[in-house]
Amino acid sequence: MIAPSILSADFARLADEVASVAGTVGRPGADWLHVDVMDNHFVPNLTLGLPVVQALLAATDIPLDCHLMIEDPDRWAVGYAEAGAHNVTVHAEAAADLLGIARDLRAAGSRAGLSIKPNTPLEPYLDVLRHYDTLLVMSVEPGFGGQSFIPETLAKVRQARHLVDTGHLRLLVEIDGGINAQTIEAAAEAGVDCFVAGSAVYSAADAGEAVEYLRSKAAAAAPAHRTPAERP
Ligand code: DX5
Ligand code: ZN
Repeated sequence: MIAPSILSADFARLADEVASVAGTVGRPGADWLHVDVMDNHFVPNLTLGLPVVQALLAATDIPLDCHLMIEDPDRWAVGYAEAGAHNVTVHAEAAADLLGIARDLRAAGSRAGLSIKPNTPLEPYLDVLRHYDTLLVMSVEPGFGGQSFIPETLAKVRQARHLVDTGHLRLLVEIDGGINAQTIEAAAEAGVDCFVAGSAVYSAADAGEAVEYLRSKAAAAAPAHRTPAERP
């Protein structure tokens, strides 16, 4: 799955930018649209919030993948689920009650996602991840698009992939940060199901073509034995 991140899109032309990655005849298009919510506290950058997400929901049929880089997601995350986001991801480093958040998100009709920063280990969250639908492994420090991929983060992807393949976890493994035509193959080999790409999509001359190119690279590099992931 490919999830273009609108962080690198032209915010003054958001509806057009979203439409440019939607599927058309003979072209599947973006599987999810990745929306980076930043509050200038959890990360040193400020982007958009619920009103813009609501406007996007009205403007596209692409399922929204809301990545909340905010403090106190215990208070705010459920609003994105209630608005109609398909997947809502909170940061493990910011949340107080991860079980409660997962329960509330699912009760509001969304998938529940958990994200970890590049230096955050996976182990402390293995139990709670049984209540989540997606694991978002950050492969850059959250806050900005256009940064370089940190290859060491793939160890956590391999670890999660193994736990999913052996039936210990049931979730989709997502990666975010520095994914482009040069890095997506290593991420696919490690077992990623869903690839977020911001600058690689929206800096391309044709964003829709960039989505298909990334998808073809990932598909070619994915381990042959892999059963296709369920698409939560
Ligand atoms: C970074 C965001 C990413 C960002 C990725 O904090 O979470 O989603 O848009 O941008 P690229 O793909 O350019 O690294
Ligand atoms: Zn993101």
